[in-house]
Amino acid sequence: MTEKKKSRNAVSHNGARVLGHGAYLPKKILTNADLAKKLDTSDEWIMQRTGIKSRHIAADNERTSDMATRAAEEALASAKISAKELDCVIVATTTPDRTFPSVAAQVQAKLGMEQGYGFDVQAVCSGFVYALTVADAMMRVGSDRFTLVVGADTLSRILDWEDRATCVLFGDGAGAILLRAPSEKEEEEKDGVKNGIIASSLHSDGRLMPLLYTDGGVSFNKSAGVIKMQGREVFRHAVVNISDAINKTLEKAEMTAEDIDWFVPHQANARILNAVADRLRLPSEKIVVTIEKHANTSAASVPLAIHEAVADGRVKKGDLLLLEAMGGGLTWGALLMRW
Ligand code: ACO
Repeated sequence: MTEKKKSRNAVSHNGARVLGHGAYLPKKILTNADLAKKLDTSDEWIMQRTGIKSRHIAADNERTSDMATRAAEEALASAKISAKELDCVIVATTTPDRTFPSVAAQVQAKLGMEQGYGFDVQAVCSGFVYALTVADAMMRVGSDRFTLVVGADTLSRILDWEDRATCVLFGDGAGAILLRAPSEKEEEEKDGVKNGIIASSLHSDGRLMPLLYTDGGVSFNKSAGVIKMQGREVFRHAVVNISDAINKTLEKAEMTAEDIDWFVPHQANARILNAVADRLRLPSEKIVVTIEKHANTSAASVPLAIHEAVADGRVKKGDLLLLEAMGGGLTWGALLMRW
């Protein structure tokens, strides 16, 4: 038995299985050069400090639920599952179309679902890792068969476009993963590997709100507000917190960093994800990086990166993926899944 096979079989897990994936990026692309025409910034500064070259921006009439629905439709098509078979839709978002209803309920309607239920998860940039964890936990104990987990955000609507320290960092988009409940009766994959969610570790610390928050809110001042951030402090916490969540997740799964085939981090800053990879001693060839063209798409960033790496053939069936994210709250977490 090869080393890889040994690690794949090391832990038996019975988490939600992965069936399909999808993504959506708005048509409009805003480059660093475009921003430099309006702000005191440069392509060189943004690239050097963040690794971002361009970002997609939603059209004026494009809502978070529109982007989420496009990603969801692609995930359903890739799994050859109809929306009529779905039991649950969970959308991770911080930028809902409206204060209520949830984006998930809107996605349900747009998909033509007359059955099931949906709800949103709000954990800012960590939202997708949180939502996958919630879906997995519900599917391990519940009766739902198919759950769609979407990460979708339109952060361009809560940016101060005159604040060069924040507005250059973010973009819009959506990504989705379709999950199927684990079944005791199911046959294992041919090579003896079960795909799906293995373990995760979630954290938050509300005392750190002043580092990253919006200056508005429904019950605060009846507005959505704009993002305020102490970039340097967020950076410092990100490397330490994410590394800690990863170590806790690996420990739960009885795995080591050597078992990881692909590191799919939240795309906040190339320097953060490289620093975390260095701590884990993960070679750069194993990191999925989309920040150059996507920037930070908040809850959409991890599923967008997964989608890209699967679509271009890097991530293959049976590969072990390590996901991580940190966002406003502060919230952070990590998750291991077998593709
Ligand atoms: N162009 C040019 N100069 C700029 C820009 C810009 N876009 N933005 C800031 N500067 C200037 C500052 O004004 C400052 O100038 P000064 O020295 O004259 O005062 C100088 O650059 C250095 O500013 P710093 O903030 O110290 O720069 P730093 O090296 O820390 O980089 C950055 C800033 C890129 C924001 C970095 O701190 C970072 O990535 N932090 C983490 C952000 C993050 O990960 N967020 C994730 C969560 S997002 C969410 O949850 C929604």
